[in-house]
Amino acid sequence: MEYVPKLMNLTRTERRIRSDYQTALADWHGSGRPPRDLSSYKLEFGTELLMERPPTAVVESATIPADHPLFKAHVERPMGEDRPLQRRAFHVAEMATFGSFVPVLSSSDVTIRVCNGDFGEAGKWQPAARHADCHELYFVHLAEHPLRLITDFGLIEEIREGDFVFLPRGTTYSFLLTGRVSILLYEIPKRLCRPYDYWMGDQQPWPFSPAAPIPPEPTPLAALHPPLGNDEATQVVVKRRRGSLTLLTYAAPVFDAVAWEGEVWPFILRLDDLVALSSPHVHLDPKKLTVFVSEDEGMAMQVFLPRWIHSLPYHHLNWVDEALFNHKAYGVRPEITDGFMTFHPAGLAHGPDLRLLADIAREEASRPKDLPFRDEIAVMVESRSPFDILKDTEKVELKGYDQSWYRQSMENT
Ligand SMILES: [Fe+2]
Repeated sequence: MEYVPKLMNLTRTERRIRSDYQTALADWHGSGRPPRDLSSYKLEFGTELLMERPPTAVVESATIPADHPLFKAHVERPMGEDRPLQRRAFHVAEMATFGSFVPVLSSSDVTIRVCNGDFGEAGKWQPAARHADCHELYFVHLAEHPLRLITDFGLIEEIREGDFVFLPRGTTYSFLLTGRVSILLYEIPKRLCRPYDYWMGDQQPWPFSPAAPIPPEPTPLAALHPPLGNDEATQVVVKRRRGSLTLLTYAAPVFDAVAWEGEVWPFILRLDDLVALSSPHVHLDPKKLTVFVSEDEGMAMQVFLPRWIHSLPYHHLNWVDEALFNHKAYGVRPEITDGFMTFHPAGLAHGPDLRLLADIAREEASRPKDLPFRDEIAVMVESRSPFDILKDTEKVELKGYDQSWYRQSMENT
């Protein structure tokens, strides 16, 4: 039988050239031998950027002290392991984050962070940053206005609610702050892939067409507001998964790419470009809704979109930890409103709200041929390694969630 891959690259091979370099680079292709007066910058994932200045001209590097607010937001402080396994729910969109991405849950396969409220000062670029160890996948839950993002590949514009933004490990970037937001950040240490299904393959755009990811455009620096667009030194925070933050001071601006070519690059992926499988005849497990998966399958992300549903999820025993974020109207139960994240650890069973199950059974009995349409959007992450729960997360916990099935069973008897 023909070899059928399980995992594919996230993105197609792409090339972008800045408008003012179109003529000069008409014959260019990535080769590691840049045209005169340009620097080649090769990222580990086989993508080459052409920069106006060498990306190595660091004037100074400093350790950010442990009492600095940035440090507080990035360093993990997991709870002890002496707690019993419990199913838990957290209103993560209500966490106080003070303009930074604070950790919510963290495992060896993925760390989930959140930023709520004013995303720094409106109209200003966030301090430039890059992650040394992890690919970064953002999900925009709420955004008062569309966001802009400058990367060392160029500019990404019109980031809106319901968008994913992917930044490969090592990408330097900065968001332009434009108002109130609620954004999740998933940090993934392994290569991120697109799942490939034997039956669907690339014949159908599942779970998204290779043409769907929107790449950054190299943009003249003059188009950027200060302080990124002038000739002053630029500071970049280098994050590490478990370790110190380093502040690099470059002699000149760093976002000066004039062209790039490669198969892994930052992108926007919109919910409208995702396709959810749905069947009137069989129950489809969440696995069939996987959109992103790490190369060792230690982390998988499913997106639940509005769809016809054959049956509610049955009670099931998890064999991986699950963290499900309710973006919009996920109908698990009345207490879990938009912006909640439920956490179901491996080794415990969970399932539908028993009250909801009874309601639906009554409805289906009256019109057995009508399938329920669920107008829900949720983002779930499965982690093979166990999640630690961070201290700040417990401050927004919905108490009594673990016992809610028991309480419902008592009410129904
Ligand atoms: Fe589950």
